[in-house]
Amino acid sequence: MIKVAPSILSADFGHMADAPVNIEKWGADIVHCDVMDGVYVPNITFGMPMVKALRPHTDLPLDVHLMITLPEKYVGKFCDAGADIVTFHPEASADPWGALREIKSKGVKCGVVVNADQPFSVVEPFLGDIDMLVVMTVQAGFGGQSFKEECLEKARLADKIKKEKGYAFDIELDGGVCPANIELCKAAGATVVVAGSAVFKAEDPAAAVRAMQI
Ligand code: DX5
Ligand code: ZN
Repeated sequence: MIKVAPSILSADFGHMADAPVNIEKWGADIVHCDVMDGVYVPNITFGMPMVKALRPHTDLPLDVHLMITLPEKYVGKFCDAGADIVTFHPEASADPWGALREIKSKGVKCGVVVNADQPFSVVEPFLGDIDMLVVMTVQAGFGGQSFKEECLEKARLADKIKKEKGYAFDIELDGGVCPANIELCKAAGATVVVAGSAVFKAEDPAAAVRAMQI
């Protein structure tokens, strides 16, 4: 079954502690935290203090997606703040292997992200050493964008390599995922999907979550 990771980017920032509580109540599997630095992406969200503040409000895994330059400087701090999974964009890093090592040394799951405008080759070298590959299905930076079906090719490629080599990493699709495209996501190899607007803006968020747990 596909795991659903609602993104708190679409939650009410004035009542952020409610977000993980609601995500759990709606029956979702993972809490997705989008960290943006205004440099790697043209938007700023929040940092380690938010992850630390949310930690006591849920037992669900906190999946921290770092859209920041030089993530190697901060990955350890996000692990210490309570992240269960930390992923970053390797082309934004001067030392991606060091960043992965640092995350693993903290006993936290690690992953890399291929942005919509990046080729598969930016993540390919890491596939044997990660717990999760994130394939962006929008250009990172904002919630509420529409799903780019052409990005699924990278997920299919990753799924093929995963099967050939016997790897066990999760394939998470991030951006514009909703009940209407969930079948496509599953067919491309997704084991986890991020959904911001499709859950938080739904009339019945629990039903939206269930519709994607296929
Ligand atoms: C985009 C973020 C996504 C996004 C998902 O930069 O990484 O996690 O917020 O939101 P929706 O589902 O609204 O595209
Ligand atoms: Zn994300």
